[in-house]
Amino acid sequence: MPVRALWYRDHTLHLLDQRRLPGRTVIRRTRRVEEVASAIRTMVVRGAPAIGVAAAYGMALASRSAKWSPARAARVLRATRPTAFDLFVGIETVRSAWARGKDPEASADAYRTKVVEECHRIGANGAPLLASARRVLTHCNAGALATVEWGTALAPIRVAHETNPRLFVFVDETRPLLQGSRLTAWELAREGIPHAVIADNAAGYYLSHREIDAVIVGADRIARNGDFANKIGTYEKAVVAHENGVPFYVAAPWTTFDFRRTSGRDIPVEERAPDEVLRFAGERIAPRRSEARNPAFDVTPARYVSGYVTPAGVVRPREVARLATIARTESASAP
Ligand code: MRU
Repeated sequence: MPVRALWYRDHTLHLLDQRRLPGRTVIRRTRRVEEVASAIRTMVVRGAPAIGVAAAYGMALASRSAKWSPARAARVLRATRPTAFDLFVGIETVRSAWARGKDPEASADAYRTKVVEECHRIGANGAPLLASARRVLTHCNAGALATVEWGTALAPIRVAHETNPRLFVFVDETRPLLQGSRLTAWELAREGIPHAVIADNAAGYYLSHREIDAVIVGADRIARNGDFANKIGTYEKAVVAHENGVPFYVAAPWTTFDFRRTSGRDIPVEERAPDEVLRFAGERIAPRRSEARNPAFDVTPARYVSGYVTPAGVVRPREVARLATIARTESASAP
């Protein structure tokens, strides 16, 4: 069975609780927009494209209750996580359908279908980049869990693995919430894709010892000049890959491209609760008087990116701005 992060049936949103993986499979069901907002904030559902789809269904659920207006439901959902651009695209897609008297549930379904279809194209377009690679590094989770199905960074890995079954994946554990060791490793293990989890601070060692041939990550928001936000720690992987001449790729659907932001300086970065750093598996690990800082994302300058794997193909940083027209055309012709 392929992994699915969420699905919508009988006017109910079903969410696979990603906080419980890999140990337990817990499905949360909701018909309330406030609960969808809380699931996004607390990371029951996470990963930029999946957050966008969950929010789209949150809007659809709100439209079924006289208590909510499109504007109010959008406000509640927008206040959940600030960095993932997909969140705002998912909300806006259904808000405008609802405000124009169209069926919000059909709009959310179409939004979901488009995201998944784009991930399949990302897989096909990115796989040739890994055709001759033996070992690839990824950071955080940009798989089916982060995108509803299939993935962004994991999509080319999945496709490449079909023809190159010895392709080996280094998985950064991704402190503090361990999206790499809990979620990416879980997806790869289910499919028998060879991999090893490494401590976040081990990537530089392997990159400098020529044990990694390519790096591929997802993104939460890509600015017009190609600067992009992704899980904290991405920036340092990009710098070390560049220093060692290892190609570094970013894979994302159109809903992650924010062409109105001219550079990464304009991307808002979420800061999460200190407890995520100060505690581990429920136990306090830092001294009682210690404080913590906890930015959830960092911004990597476009100059470190070898290519962006998009639904329309692979492009270089200087070509990102030109994608705006293709993205607009494809979004306008979406179901
Ligand atoms: O805080 P998270 O787990 O939502 O962060 C997710 C990431 O940073 C992913 O790499 C990104 O959303 C791309 S997912 C296809």
